[in-house]
Amino acid sequence: TAISFITPDGTRYDIDAADGASVMQAAIRNDVPGIDADCGGACACATCHVYVDEARLVEIPPMEAMEEDMLDFALDVRPNSRLSCQIRVKPDLDGLTLTVPARQA
Ligand code: FES
Repeated sequence: TAISFITPDGTRYDIDAADGASVMQAAIRNDVPGIDADCGGACACATCHVYVDEARLVEIPPMEAMEEDMLDFALDVRPNSRLSCQIRVKPDLDGLTLTVPARQA
């Protein structure tokens, strides 16, 4: 599934993400900078914070309590903030754009 990341300097990374993997894993595998993912995807660090394309936010399954709690530790949280390790790649998300925040927690 084709997804794109935009890093704080404006660079766009168009990647082909494996379905079933998390958005965080897709970023790491494709060397997208700015996603630290210190906890390795356990929803325990908030360093995989991304901003989701607002127009498509509704297409992503809502946050579970654990993600919501952990997101409180992320920096510069906005209404379209998510933890990328908690978003699973699937074909429906084709063309999704995620913005990497300027800094991680
Ligand atoms: Fe740690 Fe997502 S990788 S919360």
